[in-house]
Amino acid sequence: MLTTRFLLATLLTASAAYAQLTGHVGPTSTTTAKRAKICNVLDYGGTIGSSDIGPAILNTFNSCVKGNYATLYVPAGSYDMATWVTLNGASNWAFQMDGVITRTSTTSGHMIVIQNANDFEMFSSNSAGAIQGNGYQCRNAGPRLLRVITSTNFSVHDLIFVDSPEFHVIVQGGSNGELYNLAIRGTNLGGSDGVDITGNNHWVHDVEVTNRDECVTVKSPASNFLIERIWCNQSGGSAMGSLSDGTAISNIVYRNVYTNGGNQIYMFKSYGGSGYVKNVLLQNFLARGTAYGLDVNQYWSSQTPGTGPGVQFTNITFDTWDGYVADGVARPPIQFICADATPCQQMILKDVRLWSATGKAVVKCESAYGTGSCLKASGTTSYAITTSSITQPAGYTVPPTLAGDLASGFATNSPIPIP
Ligand SMILES: *[C@@H]1O[C@H](CO)[C@@H](O)[C@H](O)[C@H]1NC(C)=O
Ligand SMILES: *[C@@H]1O[C@H](CO)[C@@H](O)[C@H](O)[C@H]1NC(C)=O
Ligand SMILES: *[C@@H]1O[C@H](CO)[C@@H](O)[C@H](O)[C@H]1NC(C)=O
Repeated sequence: MLTTRFLLATLLTASAAYAQLTGHVGPTSTTTAKRAKICNVLDYGGTIGSSDIGPAILNTFNSCVKGNYATLYVPAGSYDMATWVTLNGASNWAFQMDGVITRTSTTSGHMIVIQNANDFEMFSSNSAGAIQGNGYQCRNAGPRLLRVITSTNFSVHDLIFVDSPEFHVIVQGGSNGELYNLAIRGTNLGGSDGVDITGNNHWVHDVEVTNRDECVTVKSPASNFLIERIWCNQSGGSAMGSLSDGTAISNIVYRNVYTNGGNQIYMFKSYGGSGYVKNVLLQNFLARGTAYGLDVNQYWSSQTPGTGPGVQFTNITFDTWDGYVADGVARPPIQFICADATPCQQMILKDVRLWSATGKAVVKCESAYGTGSCLKASGTTSYAITTSSITQPAGYTVPPTLAGDLASGFATNSPIPIP
């Protein structure tokens, strides 16, 4: 994990300020304060090599953690898990997961839910704590691995999530969260989302995702997120969406994002719907060999249309992007397919140099206004899709490979090793 973090920090431009965050993120008391009481699962019915560590985790939580400054401790070792747990309503606690927990039941839901926590930290002290989902045994028909629901002042870090049958890590609402030093390895297939996040004032950084669906994706509602140093390593690529009725997304910064392979560099996806996405900055993106590149699609065919006329996209800046798509005529490196009833406004491209491995590319624009590429300068009315051939952008160079780039994703029908 340290290696990943080091590589990300050195090979992608390091960042200075906290940008979009509006205040403190992460737990409010120290890890040491939470060690006032160590609640070891081995003292509450758990055993190393257990066939179901779930009940012992829940028992430890209820009998020892709740109401105290405490650390729920899963020592190094292997555990199977067949019963899913919801750890609801505790404050000032840590979940120190140094062991490897392997899914055995196919019950849907989430293996571990952290709900309504405040001042909470989930981490591995040895960077070896992992959840192995063995998703190949029940592809898209089993649990997700971790869901953090309406929690505040929390962090999740130095953990490994492998082969979830469905999505890997979900943050649902809440505020002041920090996710960092995570390695996520999923299969090369849709339905294997890495991180999906909603809420307010969250910071996600130093995350590596291998899969074939969302890398680190923002869903609605979301405000004041900083997402940086993200490595989408043969992944679907990051996105915002799917967005539909009542979308409320503002003040989001992504920066220093590297995508190797994948469906897209970054996609905004919606179909019909209402509400807004505004004040977004996507800065310092590097990509190699994705299918689509910068992809705004408000007629995204994989989703059921919302009832509203379209989500209003305003003030989205794409700054310093270098990369290439696989076939820039079949799938444009840049497209803005905006909703005719709610044309995109203030789409701004600065130093966006996207090209095609084939040496030929087109760009597409529909009902989209702003600066750069095929965007029309100003207006509020819809216009039909335009397709224009482009030449290699000035200053374009092929982005470097990074050590450890995968040539292809992990198979869908065989085990994925824990890194
Ligand atoms: C979260 O932490 C902030 C301080 O950074 C504090 O103001 C707020 O009350 C905390 N949230 C809760 C639910 O205690
Ligand atoms: C546009 O969004 C940026 C963040 O990318 C923000 O700093 C700026 O204030 C926004 N502009 C307006 C006019 O709201
Ligand atoms: C890319 O993913 C593979 C498999 O997860 C991993 O071995 C490799 O270290 C990753 N590359 C980086 C730079 O993290």
